[in-house]
Amino acid sequence: MSSEDSQLDFKQSILEGIPSILPTKKDFDPEINHAPKRKEILNQEEKVLAIQNALRYFKQEHHKELAIEFKEELEKYGRIYMYRFRPDYTIKAKHIDEFPHQSTQAAAIMLMLSNNLDYAVAQHPHELITYGGNGAVFQNWAQYLLCMKYLAEMTNEQTLVMYSGHPMGLFPSHKDAPRVVVTNGMMIPNYSKPDDWEKFNALGVTQYGQMTAGSFMYIGPQGIVHGTTITVLNAGRKISNDGLAGKLFVTAGLGGMSGAQPKAAKIAGAVSITAEINPKATHTRHSQNWVDEVYDDLNQLLVRTKDAIQQKEAVSIAYQGNIVDLWEKLAEEKMKVDIGSDQTSLHNPWAGGYYPAGFTLEESNTMMAEEPEKFKVEVQKTLRRHVDAVNKLCDNGMYFFDYGNAFLLEASRAGADIMEGNKFKYPSYVQDIMGPMCFDYGFGPFRWVCSSNEEKDLETTDKIATSVLKEMLESAPSEIKQQIEDNLRWIKAAGENKLVVGSQARILYADAEGRIKIAKAFNEAIAKGEISAPVILGRDHHDVSGTDSPYRETANIYDGSQFTADMAIHNVIGDSFRGATWVSIHNGGGVGWGEVINGGFGMVLDGTEDAERRLKSMLHWDVNNGISRRSWARNEGAIFAIKRAMDSEPRLKVTIPNLVNDDSIQGLF
Ligand SMILES: NC(=O)c1ccc[n+]([C@@H]2O[C@H](COP(=O)([O-])OP(=O)(O)OC[C@H]3O[C@@H](n4cnc5c(N)ncnc54)[C@H](O)[C@@H]3O)[C@@H](O)[C@H]2O)c1
Repeated sequence: MSSEDSQLDFKQSILEGIPSILPTKKDFDPEINHAPKRKEILNQEEKVLAIQNALRYFKQEHHKELAIEFKEELEKYGRIYMYRFRPDYTIKAKHIDEFPHQSTQAAAIMLMLSNNLDYAVAQHPHELITYGGNGAVFQNWAQYLLCMKYLAEMTNEQTLVMYSGHPMGLFPSHKDAPRVVVTNGMMIPNYSKPDDWEKFNALGVTQYGQMTAGSFMYIGPQGIVHGTTITVLNAGRKISNDGLAGKLFVTAGLGGMSGAQPKAAKIAGAVSITAEINPKATHTRHSQNWVDEVYDDLNQLLVRTKDAIQQKEAVSIAYQGNIVDLWEKLAEEKMKVDIGSDQTSLHNPWAGGYYPAGFTLEESNTMMAEEPEKFKVEVQKTLRRHVDAVNKLCDNGMYFFDYGNAFLLEASRAGADIMEGNKFKYPSYVQDIMGPMCFDYGFGPFRWVCSSNEEKDLETTDKIATSVLKEMLESAPSEIKQQIEDNLRWIKAAGENKLVVGSQARILYADAEGRIKIAKAFNEAIAKGEISAPVILGRDHHDVSGTDSPYRETANIYDGSQFTADMAIHNVIGDSFRGATWVSIHNGGGVGWGEVINGGFGMVLDGTEDAERRLKSMLHWDVNNGISRRSWARNEGAIFAIKRAMDSEPRLKVTIPNLVNDDSIQGLF
């Protein structure tokens, strides 16, 4: 078949949506990294309901055949993925014009969601999971097919409404409205426990969208390499001023996000050891050169690590095995570890996010599905051992931080020795690093994707962003100079390290001023033809305004409002009427179902005046919403940043807190 024919075939398949003739059944491909079997949670009656729900997508004439198949899937995998309907074409980001469309904005969204399902990007592509073990783009393949068809057909006078992966349909709207509005996992609060996700996801009525999976904004590991590099660099600044050469960083997880740790530690100049239980995940990162060396023998690993520390060699080492075995060995040997953390998927502890010590991966997976209660006991036992070993190393001078994966929370629930009074012994990386150093000043993970899918365009955008940042640096106040300088170093390192996997994307931490200036310069370059096709803006939700998460993004809010979710909800509502191309609001995300509400957006710049109007209005709100809330919580950096924002935009009038002197309240109780 010529490439033109296959392109035609691709377009036709998309326009067909759910095929009217049943495609042939697909074999299960053992070479692909698959989601673990989910635990059996539905009773007989509920199983029937799950199958009825799934059959809604198909004509009655196919129901008999599909009902048997879906029952098998439900029993074998714990979910109905509808594997048979996975398309035969390759799903990945392509030039925007290769997607059939009536609306450029809708085509941009097709590009972005396709990137989330690219085999090179997604963690479990056949189960439509992008990262985090459960971060779903859709619940099943019928939803994917239907969504792509709607996007291909829609105009700029319609909005596609998505309920947890299910495309509810196209509704009339207007050109300034978002083209897509996404909700994922929004539950009545009382039904937001981990088992509720298991149950309602198995029924096919909700999904865990994580942060950038169900919002189509994942850009592969680059985003997290960037965030992790900034975190590791700043963690290094907390322990000494002489950089990370010859310093040891120990952590766990080589999965979707966690796999960035060895690469980031190397960019930051450290020696790192990352433990990983799943050989497939280790292999992926090793073959990508993000991990330099792999050991499954702890004695050999220690010899090599000591040598690297002595030589001050920036090297990333992986331990193939359970993190707890590594920590216990390091504690036993009284090894000097400078920085420690953990990025196993503890937001999802009972369904494969954290593997207990003393069992192989296969044994654990079987136990998880067949003896979930025993699995839970073993996980909690392991967490207690995990904390004991970490405590010993911290007594010996290690700086340990929670890396936004609910480690401290789950360890405390497991009864580990992790509390000091009613507080955790260790800070989260947001409390100590990202919150006060970045978010309070409005710096967050701004990103863009070149819809031409061409490297050349990405290089042009890198140059534009560099010159905007250099100009900003000249007049920046001292409080934010470091962030701008880190960004300039990052753009250079990202280009040199070829960090693009999937779509032609770049991320950097910018504040409102930086985001607006960079976006405006891109829009002008598109108008002049210097960039060959539209640019898609976005961010992950791990940002100043997007996410209410008391143990992560809003962990450095101390006025009690860290347990509220007004900011994230306002964020999405405000973005949607200020010009976002799509908006999304999720329950779940990094730290677990019921533990966080996070919102995001995507915005297409097409070189028009309309795009300029939208970007100025929306990006300004998207950042300053969060700064105002952080300022109201009396965070010093945020008070500084919001006053600065009001100085440059007279229409912005934010309520500033009056600080309370200790004298005024002394002796009250
Ligand atoms: N700090 C951040 O910026 C940030 C960002 C995103 C995600 N996170 C959080 O980090 C966690 C990891 O995310 P991910 O996308 O990498 O998830 P993932 O599930 O893809 O990767 C986690 C890895 O940990 C491994 N693992 C589990 N238990 C282990 C054990 N006992 N010993 C060794 N390895 C073990 C798993 O095999 C898996 O490969 C999540 O909870 C996520 O929410 C943090």
